[in-house]
Amino acid sequence: MKIKLCLTGVLPVLVLLIVSGRLNAQSALIPIETANNALVLRVEPNKDLQTVYFGRRLATGSEYALVPSVYRQSSDPSGMFNSAYTSSGSRNLIEPAITVTHADGNYSLDLRFVSQQLTRINDDVSLLTVVLKDPVYDFEVTLYYRSYYKEDVIEQWSMIRHHEKGNVILHKFASANLHLQAGSYWLRQYHGDWAKEMQPEESRLTHGIKTLDSKLGARANLYQPPVFMVSLDRPATEDEGTVLYGGVEWSGNFRVDLEVDPQDNLRILAGINNYASPYTLAPNEAFTTPPCWYTLSDKGKGDASRKVQRWARDYKLLDGKGTRLTLLNNWESTYFDFNEARLAELLKDTKKLGVDLFLLDDGWFANKYPRNDDHAGLGDWQPNKSKLPNGISSLVKEAHADGVKFGIWVEPEMVNPKSELYEQHPDWVIKQPKREEHYFRNQLVLDLTNPKVQDFVFGVVDGLFTQNPDLAYIKWDCNAVMYNAASATLKDQSHFYVDYVRGLYKVLERLRAKYPKVPMMLCSGGGGRVDYGALQYFTEFWPSDNTDPLERIFIQWEYSYFYPAMASSNHVTDWGKQPLKFRTDVAMMGKLGFDVVVSKLSPQDLKFVQSAVSSYNSIKDVIWQGDQFRLSDPSANSVASVLYVDEGKSRSIMFNYLVNYRYGAGSLLPIRLKGLDPARNYRVSEINLYPGTSSPLEAGKVYSGDFLMKVGINPEVHAGRTSVVLMFEEAR
Ligand code: DGJ
Repeated sequence: MKIKLCLTGVLPVLVLLIVSGRLNAQSALIPIETANNALVLRVEPNKDLQTVYFGRRLATGSEYALVPSVYRQSSDPSGMFNSAYTSSGSRNLIEPAITVTHADGNYSLDLRFVSQQLTRINDDVSLLTVVLKDPVYDFEVTLYYRSYYKEDVIEQWSMIRHHEKGNVILHKFASANLHLQAGSYWLRQYHGDWAKEMQPEESRLTHGIKTLDSKLGARANLYQPPVFMVSLDRPATEDEGTVLYGGVEWSGNFRVDLEVDPQDNLRILAGINNYASPYTLAPNEAFTTPPCWYTLSDKGKGDASRKVQRWARDYKLLDGKGTRLTLLNNWESTYFDFNEARLAELLKDTKKLGVDLFLLDDGWFANKYPRNDDHAGLGDWQPNKSKLPNGISSLVKEAHADGVKFGIWVEPEMVNPKSELYEQHPDWVIKQPKREEHYFRNQLVLDLTNPKVQDFVFGVVDGLFTQNPDLAYIKWDCNAVMYNAASATLKDQSHFYVDYVRGLYKVLERLRAKYPKVPMMLCSGGGGRVDYGALQYFTEFWPSDNTDPLERIFIQWEYSYFYPAMASSNHVTDWGKQPLKFRTDVAMMGKLGFDVVVSKLSPQDLKFVQSAVSSYNSIKDVIWQGDQFRLSDPSANSVASVLYVDEGKSRSIMFNYLVNYRYGAGSLLPIRLKGLDPARNYRVSEINLYPGTSSPLEAGKVYSGDFLMKVGINPEVHAGRTSVVLMFEEAR
């Protein structure tokens, strides 16, 4: 990582690895350079901090100073369109990053550069901090830019503080404020609902503001996730075009404003949603916003996603370089209807299947109001005595004796009104005291702004681990949104949405301090809560309750732009009309699990899944740690194709599926591979064949990487072969 401080004009470029202090120069540049890109800030003579460039890095750093001189756009009367952190109420006329009311009631803010400091954290990571202050009020904002050199990723956030004679109210408090210059901007955004997560829409941004946001409180992503991509000049394809990916690392209400300004430039303001959240800040108190991450690529969506996936595995996802457990879940095979005897059979099935762990889902707890459906019991985390007379510990021991691990489902942030928890602690529940209660899946959300509730939620999970030290996995669910968002104990109700997420993170922080690596799945009635704020505490997420493999091809495709395959929990279930092989192949494209009744599988099906688990174990390192290439887009083609290539380019796995069932549809043309070494030879074999079937592809045939990438291979996908997995191994 190199950050240069360049004095504009004729002065020589000053290259500094560690820079600190005040700038005396009239106008100075602060480029944040990564392997391929540069985000260049400039301190103006009046000490405004502006963004003058965000694009491919230049060979000669001093030339960043020339960038503004080659634009002939209309004038900017306020000089603030490209502000690096846009204040409001003074000169600014466009969407601000920050809005405040000062202690004296004045609402104007003007932030000017004071100092900057660069800390080199290691060979890859650096942290730039820039301090801005209001010349009139004792109010300051520190901007943070953590850059990841090799991955071309930047995380940006801010810390807001003041020393005024009374409280200040923050009305808007963005994490990042970007400025991009291009001929046109093409936003790929996502919306969804239960079982319909990550539905993409791509459109040209027009002048004015497009806002992506959530106001749902918990499981904030149900309707809209906090990730987006913007192509510059034209919609990027997998391999071509310039594209910016970004996301807010916040597991609650977020807001991303994309404003095409009067000069035709794109401003992006991203962070916590300020909706219903004016935040009172006492003197000397610091308000730190969550990071917003972004990366830019001029080599298309594929390159951008591989950078993000690598960054996530290296730095964000918990245990991103570690291993994961394959599992058998009982949700869809039993729902709430099970007992010890049934679970004992399922433990044996887990072993028979060959997976690592049995995951006991919802329905194991509550006695006064037993959890026999989703109307009661949530919050009462004592094992149900009639279903499990010997508690959880005996199941954990039994699993151990059967040679498998044991995991358990919890939804500790939630409560059914029909529960002892609700009876005992009505003040722990999020509700408006004077209004009728409103339920989502018959439940309410607990008030995590209350430290006592934080202790309770921590205690639910901690208690399970303390009583069952061999417990190996947690599925952490979160099914309800927040209606009537209010706390019985919070002094300042407008802090509620922000403090809820902070409370949640406090609990997760405590759990991870005590149980640093136990795998935990971030589940939210499907993919209702996935972001890099949460994923620093979780090893994986549940993309959707929709496990119809045909639907999953599309859902997993979209998630894969932003999250690595190893984080995607994919379960084989009975959803959809596809054969077991198709369902299993699709689930293998991430972290494999099953939620089927093993005892009801035909001998052939059982043989197939057993051998699929064993082949998964031999290729999972390539799927989890390799580079992912989306070869054939299911939205545009009859065949979907995704490839994973290991770091050494010696092994790769190609998944192919028929997604169009009209007459004659199939892989009429060969599909070109990517990411191989053109100079090496690769031996192809088809894996995951269903017992009794054979491959039409010649076994062991060798092709050069050059051929495979220029001409391609035909996986022979058609109505009679709807799912095909090929392995390419270097032939030495
Ligand atoms: C929603 C989850 O997405 C499902 O997998 C399952 O765990 C249920 N909740 C249980 O209530």
